Parts: sequence; C-alpha cells; structure tokens
Amino acid sequence: MASREICVFEDNQEINAYLKELLKKLSKQAIKERGLFSMALSGGVTPEKFYRSLADTSDFLPWDDIHLFMVDERYVKPGDNDHNFSMVQRTILSSIKLPKKNLHPIQTDLTSIQETATSYEKELKRFFYEDGHSKSPIFDFILLGIGQDGHTASLFPGSPALEEKEKLVAISRSEHARHERITLTLPIINLARTVVFLITGPEKKNIVQQIVQDKIGLFPASKVNPENGKLYFILDSGSCGDGSYCVPS
Ligand code: 6PG
Repeated sequence: MASREICVFEDNQEINAYLKELLKKLSKQAIKERGLFSMALSGGVTPEKFYRSLADTSDFLPWDDIHLFMVDERYVKPGDNDHNFSMVQRTILSSIKLPKKNLHPIQTDLTSIQETATSYEKELKRFFYEDGHSKSPIFDFILLGIGQDGHTASLFPGSPALEEKEKLVAISRSEHARHERITLTLPIINLARTVVFLITGPEKKNIVQQIVQDKIGLFPASKVNPENGKLYFILDSGSCGDGSYCVPS
C-alpha cells in the first residue's frame, strides 16, 4: 500500500501555496537525481485555479527541466472548450514558456482515436525508454481529480480501460461523459513517484469519504495505489466534510 497523506486546507489559496511548495521540492530533487522532472496533469474544472497560480511562478519552478504530459484527454480538436491540453495552454503555458520538446500533449488531431492512443503510448515509451530517462515509465508527479461517480483520469466505473494491465494508454467511454477519452491506465499511474488527488467543493465530500475509506477498490479512484510512491489527498474544507475520517494512515 502506498504511503498516504490527507491534507485539508481552508481554501484554494492555501491549497495552491502548498502544492507549489510540493512541486518545488519534488522537482528540485528529481532534477538533481535524474536531470528532469516529469509531470502529468489532469483536466476538469478543479485544477484550473491551481494552474493559473502556477503561471505566476516563472522563476519559482525549474521549468526548463520540467516535462509536461496529460493524464487524459477528451477526443475533441485542440482549441475546443473541452480540450484538456488547451486549458493547460490557456492557464499555464500562456505565461510560462516551456521548450517545445518539454510538451507532450495527447494528439487529438490525428485520423482516429485509436491512432491518438497509439501515438501517445509511443511518445511515453520514447520519452521513458529511448531517451534513457528511466527503465520504466515512472512519472515523478501525477495530478488527478475525482468525479462524483468515483472516476479518476478517464477511468470510469465499469470501464474496460480499468482492467488494462499492459498498455500505458487506453481509450475510454462513458454514458456520462460527452466525449470519448484517451487516458493513462492504472499500471502507469501506479508506478508514479507521487500522485496527488486534488479535490474541492462540498459536492465531492461523500465520494471523497467513500474513496478514502474504500479498502477493496470499489471505485476507479480507490484503485490508485502507487506502491513505491506517495499518495496525497489535497482537500478543501468543503470536500473534507466533517473530517472524521481525515486521519493519516
Ligand atoms: C477530465 C479529468 C477527470 C477530472 C474529474 C474531476 O478530463 O475531466 O481528468 O478525471 O479530474 O472528472 O473533474 P472536475 O474537477 O471538473 O470536477
């Protein structure tokens, strides 16, 4: 079981400050040990405020050595309002200029979703294996959200993508999601050194409590267990609810 920490903050401002310090510490350490810092970011509404606050940190993080990947993508064209990487471009990359080689979006402008998934899988393998950064696809940092149905990344309850054991990338569909999705799979998520669930708002308090207490992996999000890494639940007071379960384990 991953070492797990549940951190509860008053508001987004406190969350952003904490996450930025965490990123600073982790990136400094990774760059010292391995020469770069690899992070995969999620879409959705929750992380937008954090991404905007990252944009104020041009000197705070060693951006030249940070490689940015996406956890998942909606199969829509770049520029679409629902396109996750476009949101990252608007919030972070409009202020922080990362070298092009450090950007690893999921290419949704290819001819089919299969091609998109295959090309992202290839890109991950090229980055982690061929460039000699690692012998395994181990991300330094993955930022995840949680949906009210317990999904995380684009791994929805009941989705065959949840059963993927070999591939790093899967295609995913849900009757509750407007678009088909491309997502990192559990095997690569669970290899990461640090995984952070960022969850805010009282509408998430019931699902957060169930996931924190779920020992049998009933929900996709409770299957996230980076065995050699650290798992953080970063909550605001709304998503934490009465907090009775918020004790470190
Ligand atoms: C996405 C995600 C997804 C998200 C959750 C929470 O692209 O939508 O990566 O897993 O993190 O659905 O979304 P909200 O932050 O919008 O509640």
